[in-house]
Amino acid sequence: MKFFVDTADVAEIRSLVETGFIDGVTTNPSLIAQSGRRIEEAIAEICSLVSGPVSAEVTATDLNGMLKEGRYLAKIASNVVVKVPLTPEGLKACRALTQEGTLVNVTLCFSAAQAILAAKAGASFISPFIGRLDDVGETGMDLIHQIIQIYSNYPDFHTQVLAASIRSPLHVIEAARMGADVATIPPKILHQLYKHPLTDKGLLDFLDDWQKTGQQIIAI
Ligand code: E4P
Repeated sequence: MKFFVDTADVAEIRSLVETGFIDGVTTNPSLIAQSGRRIEEAIAEICSLVSGPVSAEVTATDLNGMLKEGRYLAKIASNVVVKVPLTPEGLKACRALTQEGTLVNVTLCFSAAQAILAAKAGASFISPFIGRLDDVGETGMDLIHQIIQIYSNYPDFHTQVLAASIRSPLHVIEAARMGADVATIPPKILHQLYKHPLTDKGLLDFLDDWQKTGQQIIAI
């Protein structure tokens, strides 16, 4: 399973890259707004830190606008993935950009029917939003399960399932159990993945017992 980090915070990305766990990055207009930077500048810097896919989202809603913005964003670096919304125009843009050789991430997916359309449009990634479905009383994980099951029926679908809108370590675990190709994870949740109170307690106990021996490991 690949881990993408869902942020446009370059300092955070820089420090997470050092863990060796980061395979790519996703951004969206809200995350770019939070960064306070121009999109071109933020995406270029992120692409210099991460060699894997970096999603940069268009903000036009018409086909021509999406194509223009998508081509512009794709020129920033060779690992830019253009993100388009799951609308009729977005899927036309997906098909056109894919045919030009650009990788496309279709975002704002909330149903299996939408995911089928994205695969048929040639998307490289489909982003079903788990947390936002949970927020409205639906079970986001069920959507991930349905999409994986449907895609597995069709070997000619090459779209990777990118579990998005992740709000807890449990979402990551469940997405992995189901076989999602990628999880895009906010930094806070990535940090939580390490945590277990028994690990902290166990380490303290080991160190305490060790100190009592008066020993030191002298590495020669
Ligand atoms: C996906 O690519 C989106 O950027 C993201 O996962 C949205 O998450 P949110 O619902 O927490 O904003």
